[in-house]
Amino acid sequence: MQFRAHSSLVENLTGVPRTLLIPLVARANGGTTFPLLEPNDRYAQELLTAMGAEVKTSGHDAPTFVNVLWRTVLIKELGSDFFSRAPQSPGINLGAGLAHYFQWLGNGKNTWIDVDLEQVIDLRKSFLPDSSSHCLNQAMDITQPGWWNRLPLHKRDHKRPVFVVCEGVLMYLEPCKVRSIIREFAENAPEGSELILDFVSPLAVGPTAVLRHNEETGAPFAWGVHNGLEIAHLHPRLELLSQHSVSEAYGLGASWADMYWGLLMGGPVYGLAHLRVTEP
Ligand SMILES: C[S@@+](CC[C@H](N)C(=O)[O-])C[C@H]1O[C@@H](n2cnc3c(N)ncnc32)[C@H](O)[C@@H]1O
Repeated sequence: MQFRAHSSLVENLTGVPRTLLIPLVARANGGTTFPLLEPNDRYAQELLTAMGAEVKTSGHDAPTFVNVLWRTVLIKELGSDFFSRAPQSPGINLGAGLAHYFQWLGNGKNTWIDVDLEQVIDLRKSFLPDSSSHCLNQAMDITQPGWWNRLPLHKRDHKRPVFVVCEGVLMYLEPCKVRSIIREFAENAPEGSELILDFVSPLAVGPTAVLRHNEETGAPFAWGVHNGLEIAHLHPRLELLSQHSVSEAYGLGASWADMYWGLLMGGPVYGLAHLRVTEP
């Protein structure tokens, strides 16, 4: 994918922050090619237009588009289910980029915080200003210990379970930092909180990765795990509720192939783990 924008805020993005453009383009345009995975994102296309973006995609981008659209649809479903059980609970998107889940998961009773690095929050604020006191942008580096206590959670929300999304972020970070982010969530989030995160197989990580991904942004994958159980084992308060594989998006044949792959390799090539905080 080639991307150019008239906004200097966008053109100055490099490395991992620049990767936010990939899911944005996928949510804006991917549904045309993959209508069954259309997320109906009200903001993505508007954002590209507002940035004066010129995007060139090719057939090589198709798997990336499927990854993003598949996880978006799944996170929407898991979020709707969570908020139907806990309508007043807050939601948080860690490393939100220019994603806007509150458009789908806001119910008039809950609040939402979109967290990202300062440079990205500046960009969000110029294109996606805080729409209300219910939906906030928060600049924060989640690799810095203590980030949970710096979240601007309302006092009344301190004991409510929280719905946390972290998609397309952790695979770019060093393994020790990823473990510390997950443990900080597990130690601090109230019982019943849920965390949705995506992960890649260790085979997709590092300079000798067998499964290579598009590194146009100059941001290679640094963290991978075999499956969601490995993530749940990082902390005794974490329980794995479900694990999903992107093969679900390709139909039954792919799911069968994925099952055999999983037996050999210990898990999917690209998956999503749904975890909950429970007292051991
Ligand atoms: C591939 S983008 C994903 C954006 C968004 N989650 C989505 O799916 O549209 C990765 C995002 O993680 C953010 N990020 C990377 N390291 C971070 C950190 N240490 N703290 C907060 N955000 C971070 C980047 O700035 C970028 O917006």
